[in-house]
Amino acid sequence: MKTTIAKLKNHIGEEVTIGAWIANKRSSGKIAFLQLRDGTGFVQGVVVKSDIPEEQFLLAKGITQETSVYVTGSVQTDERSQSGVELVVSKIQVISESQDYPITPKEHGTEFLMDHRHLWIRSKRQHAVLKIRNEIIHAVNEFFYNNDFVKVDPPILTGSSAEGTTSLFHTKYFEEDAYLSQSGQLYMEAAAMALGKVYSFGPTFRAEKSKTRRHLIEFWMIEPEMAFVEHEESLQIQEQFVSHVVQSVLERCKAELQTLGRDVTKLENVKAPFPRVSYDDAIKMLKEKGFDDIEWGDDFGAPHETAIAESFDKPVFITNYPKDIKAFYMKPHPERDDVVLCADLIAPEGYGEIIGGSQRIDDLELMRQRYEEHGLTDDAYKWYLELRQYGSVPHSGFGLGLERTVAWLSGVEHVRETIPFPRLLNRLYP
Ligand code: 4AD
Ligand code: MG
Repeated sequence: MKTTIAKLKNHIGEEVTIGAWIANKRSSGKIAFLQLRDGTGFVQGVVVKSDIPEEQFLLAKGITQETSVYVTGSVQTDERSQSGVELVVSKIQVISESQDYPITPKEHGTEFLMDHRHLWIRSKRQHAVLKIRNEIIHAVNEFFYNNDFVKVDPPILTGSSAEGTTSLFHTKYFEEDAYLSQSGQLYMEAAAMALGKVYSFGPTFRAEKSKTRRHLIEFWMIEPEMAFVEHEESLQIQEQFVSHVVQSVLERCKAELQTLGRDVTKLENVKAPFPRVSYDDAIKMLKEKGFDDIEWGDDFGAPHETAIAESFDKPVFITNYPKDIKAFYMKPHPERDDVVLCADLIAPEGYGEIIGGSQRIDDLELMRQRYEEHGLTDDAYKWYLELRQYGSVPHSGFGLGLERTVAWLSGVEHVRETIPFPRLLNRLYP
């Protein structure tokens, strides 16, 4: 019977056939151990010389890494292995031989691995990270579906920018200028006025010359937008959302987290509510921690975020940043004109900002004023003003970066390992 590695545990004692690749191999005079992978998982194939025709044993002994095979064998329980089973092999049929596979079990440098990303994703660790990414995607969609959000897909080619004009990829759109989307937010605000609670989940592009462990040029963002939802309620939805994603990964990715050596005790506690620190207090905390140069009005960099996050064992919201360092659409604090109703959610363990969000300006006159201050007289934004003209309502939204979330939950150091084919500064290959 044909099956997959993930399903082997349903076939204990039966003879099955799987299509697989040889991930690794060990052998002695009498026995060969084949590490088999098929995408659904990894399992050990045991080839015993005395139980198999001579030529089949020689084939197993000499088989090369990444050769593709059909393997037939009987499924046995094996308490020591992660899958709980092993395959006692009775037949191996080579589909296609692999020669001189470049990624051997020895250590390789990062640039070498990045040049071979199309093959590197076959390795056990990369496989685990991509499975965790898949589970996060599923948990995101599940959360929003269960909470009556409608998924809306904003355009990727746009005539305007959402977050500022410095980091856009430009292209010609026939006779016009167009940009790759750096955020779907403005379109999601329009969608929220049509469908109430909406979210988008798509690729976004930033031509930032940042070369850090947290920055990609192309990354995926989840952007909910909610009509009739004010700042505080939005924070509650954010903490419930992130808790759901974290708890789902803990529950459904046990094997992958184990493969990655992730300390899950650091994630188990991630349940709503999350702590909140105002920007004002964050500045005080930083001064106490020895950041003497930081002044009220400065934006936070990675070291500042890490220092604040260290005081908590859950993600922490930093709220009410100065208006001047945040986007033009954020609603001013009702009692203070110098700060806005916004929050960044900072992940623990140095993974940095995973969410940026705010309540949006809903007043037409104030939005017009912001337009003038930011020089946004362009026709490209006219439609966005009109949202405040025809039945404007209080509304809030936020954006969660998928890759930073994958990095945090997987415990991998750099976001380049959290997306199948990372686009980085100086890297467009493969
Ligand atoms: O804080 P950002 O720039 O917020 C927005 O774009 C808002 N329009 C979202 C909204 O309110 N709808 O980005 C949101 C998140 C960040 O917190 C971070 O997790 C991720 O997107 N992010 C990046 N991830 C990887 N590489 C980059 N270059 C990123 N830039 C932002
Ligand atoms: Mg941000």
